[in-house]
Amino acid sequence: MQNKDIYILAIESSCDDTSAAVLKNDVVLSNVVANQEVHQKYGGVVPELASRAHQQNIVPVVQQALKQAKIDKNKLHAIAFTRGPGLMGSLLVGTSFATTLAMSLNIPLIDVNHMQAHILAHFISDSSKNIKPTFPFISLTISGGHTQLVQVNSYFDFKILGETIDDAAGEAFDKSAKILGLPYPGGPLIDKYAKLGNPKAFPFPIPKTKNELDFSFSGFKTAVLRFVQKNTKENPNFIQENLHDICASIQNGIVTILMKKIEKAIQTTGINQIAIAGGVSANSEIRKQLLQASSGKKWKVFIPPFEYTTDNAAMIGIVGFLKYKHHFKAKKNNHLATARLKVEEN
Ligand code: KG4
Ligand code: ZN
Repeated sequence: MQNKDIYILAIESSCDDTSAAVLKNDVVLSNVVANQEVHQKYGGVVPELASRAHQQNIVPVVQQALKQAKIDKNKLHAIAFTRGPGLMGSLLVGTSFATTLAMSLNIPLIDVNHMQAHILAHFISDSSKNIKPTFPFISLTISGGHTQLVQVNSYFDFKILGETIDDAAGEAFDKSAKILGLPYPGGPLIDKYAKLGNPKAFPFPIPKTKNELDFSFSGFKTAVLRFVQKNTKENPNFIQENLHDICASIQNGIVTILMKKIEKAIQTTGINQIAIAGGVSANSEIRKQLLQASSGKKWKVFIPPFEYTTDNAAMIGIVGFLKYKHHFKAKKNNHLATARLKVEEN
């Protein structure tokens, strides 16, 4: 590996955010995110609208990221992009843009797994001097599309301990919000209203799973639906009159499930470092409960900076940088042409 600074342009387009970032080694120089508001009125992401919006956004977003980083594109060493998982049409926009730009600049193209990127966002060097986890640690990755407990043994060695068998944690928030008539994405709104309500007002059931480290949220969502239907039948203003208490109770239910799984994963593996990642890790209640649990139970807790929780290209960039570095370490004196940069993952 050369001892010079490495500049990576990263592109994320897996769902409904178009994002580009520039990293100098593990430091983020810019991280531009264009949220797609077009989905709000549909109560969820409409894939065809998402790919069209990515097409409109990608050039200005990349230009802005380069401008904010004060980097000319000819200074870049590689381009990292989200390969998946995600919406096919959305991924295609990022992939074809990244491929074409890498070819035209004659630099390597690095493909990045979106879930790995959520987890490795913890390794971005941050001015708030956050301490990074050491290996092995457990990641609870909670997003709109995925919910996983992962044992992270190294940057490139991940073992899935458990995952959702139906809905993701973010979906549990978003679908519950939709039942309450709130716009998409409902997670941040439930979080906001929950701050004003009583979390014990309406208890919701905790679902059981065969594998204790797996998750299930579809029964939870159905319980919220039945509860709202029953109460609005008796009182048509039930939601308006109790919105804060309902939101606080829903949030409390989901966070209780997540905390129980974390506890189980720590018991099972004996690893007491826990990192949270993904959009739902922005939730103020899970952050609060984790910090409380960490002081009481001697867990070491890692909470990502707010801007790296929901989808962003900086997290793609850190994986791009780590793969780039790993590649050169493994193959000294390697000369890269336009070729795609492949790094073996265990
Ligand atoms: O990681 P992400 O941006 O996209 C996916 O990869 O899916 O996660 C988006 C999810 C949405 O379900 C959104 O409602 C949820 O993260 N979310 C939250 C909060 N902020 C975002 N859920 C609960 N509380 C929040 N503060
Ligand atoms: Zn995500």
